[in-house]
Amino acid sequence: MALRHDVVIVGGGGAGLRAAIAVAEAAPSLSVALVSKVYPMRSHTVSAEGGAAAVIKSNDTLDEHCSDTILGSDWLADQDAVELFVREAPAEMVQLEHWGCPWSREPDGHIAVRPFGGMKTERTWFAADKTGFHMLHALFQTSLRHPQITRYDEWFATKILVENGRCQGITGLELRSGRIDVLAAKAVIVCTGGCGRVYPFTTNGSIKTGDGMALSYRAGVPLKDMEFVQYHPTGLPGTGILITEAARSEGGVLVNKDGYRYLQDYDLGQPLDVHDPHHPMKKAMELGPRDRLSQAFVKEREKGRTLQGPYGDFVYLDIRHLGPERISRKLPFVHELVTRYVGIDPVHEPIPVRPVVHYMMGGIDTDADGATVLPGLFAAGETACVSINGANRLGSNSLPELLVFGARAGRAAARFAQEHAGLDLPALEKQVAEERERIARDFLDKRAGKERIASLRREMNEALESGAGIFRTHSSLRAACDKLAELRERFCHTSLDDHSLSFNTQLTAALELDFMLDLAQTIAHSAIERTESRGSHQRTDYPNRDDERFLKHSLAFSGAAGVRLAYKPVVITRWPPGKRVYGT
Ligand code: FUM
Repeated sequence: MALRHDVVIVGGGGAGLRAAIAVAEAAPSLSVALVSKVYPMRSHTVSAEGGAAAVIKSNDTLDEHCSDTILGSDWLADQDAVELFVREAPAEMVQLEHWGCPWSREPDGHIAVRPFGGMKTERTWFAADKTGFHMLHALFQTSLRHPQITRYDEWFATKILVENGRCQGITGLELRSGRIDVLAAKAVIVCTGGCGRVYPFTTNGSIKTGDGMALSYRAGVPLKDMEFVQYHPTGLPGTGILITEAARSEGGVLVNKDGYRYLQDYDLGQPLDVHDPHHPMKKAMELGPRDRLSQAFVKEREKGRTLQGPYGDFVYLDIRHLGPERISRKLPFVHELVTRYVGIDPVHEPIPVRPVVHYMMGGIDTDADGATVLPGLFAAGETACVSINGANRLGSNSLPELLVFGARAGRAAARFAQEHAGLDLPALEKQVAEERERIARDFLDKRAGKERIASLRREMNEALESGAGIFRTHSSLRAACDKLAELRERFCHTSLDDHSLSFNTQLTAALELDFMLDLAQTIAHSAIERTESRGSHQRTDYPNRDDERFLKHSLAFSGAAGVRLAYKPVVITRWPPGKRVYGT
């Protein structure tokens, strides 16, 4: 028996909760299902640390935020979307405060802001270095005020249902019971985050397997700009846990094995406009954009100037000079993470760090209302590509992005649901019956396959890291494409050891791997066809940006013979492409 709602939201993190609240506020009579494979407060937004950018100070302007974002994106962001984002972000941040988010403040009571990578001035709001936790908490508790939001915690979405040319819901697997059912709706919003887990070393929690991207791709919606993968320059070796950019914003410096601040050799010395006359960061350097900092690490490694440890090469992030008081006031979480996971005290010892996969610039192709080409299907947050991030996202733009576009997608989905009736329930029931059969046949009842989920996942991770890492070439990408095709084929020969229905985590791991293999292929194929270097996509065989041929978004479609690529133009409004310079 189908579960019926007006709007189904897949994903209970920041974007999903913001979208749910927006639907409830815009159209209180609509019923909303919030479907999440984890309890919402365990969504990955909770781990965001450093902050959220929005213009608030008198020395800042909306145009400056736009131009920093566009420069950071290496001109691949759509400028109409960036303008809209920058304009709507401040009100979203104030709204969040009214919902209970405890933004850190200056001693005089004004909102405190910190500088962040690639931004020329301080515009990043924060709640110490636990910003995501506080934002998610504020959103979650606000969602509880709306009784029309029904939560489906620990439900896994297996398919987007399309009937009569429009999205009419999803099929969901209830993890507790193994029940598979239709969640029928007039509109669906996908808010499932990114897919960092396709790589071996990532800041992303194990839930970030790109489910919504793959579901949309399989439903015929293109994935945009998937070749652009962000490596954050400072992850803890071993675990990949993020050491927030806020540590550098507060004055932390990166040094190589000789104790040398190597970034001064990489054209990153742009002056910073900071209020605090005693602020240690007068020049960008450590606050350059993430793509450039991660690339500088690789160059240092090539010069033999990194250190070697049990988890590969690393450099040091040194915050000792900030002193215990500033560290405990501004960076308590950094202190806790380093103490717990590295076993050293960053007040007294430098922190070993290395670049780590952090964020997908690409995702489900949407317009500024989150609408996809499939009527009734919307997306927001990291899973979507509007695009405001282009070839490289600036740190602290993703949290306001999920607020602005989560809210817009919620309002647009509410309108769509009000304007459309007539769900084809018998057809949806037929589809769910087929889905039950597929999951039984390919996973639960299958016993003969010899391939192991964990081995295939590891091989996929290695194929992407070695083929589509910080620097790529045609031959590395070719090898990745070939390996991923082989893994796709071998996936048909997997079988599970666990055939039970209740909390079958091996089944969910298999479904997630199935999704990730699709996404890994879109990354490698989009990257091999982009024969230029731009932002996070650095081709050593094509080292220059080529606006003539590639000032355009890639679109990866699921075709009969695998990934099919198309392109669409980038929207340029007021910032014509120029040289991307961060030095003085
Ligand atoms: O370093 C950080 O705190 C990360 C922020 C972001 O990805 O926006």
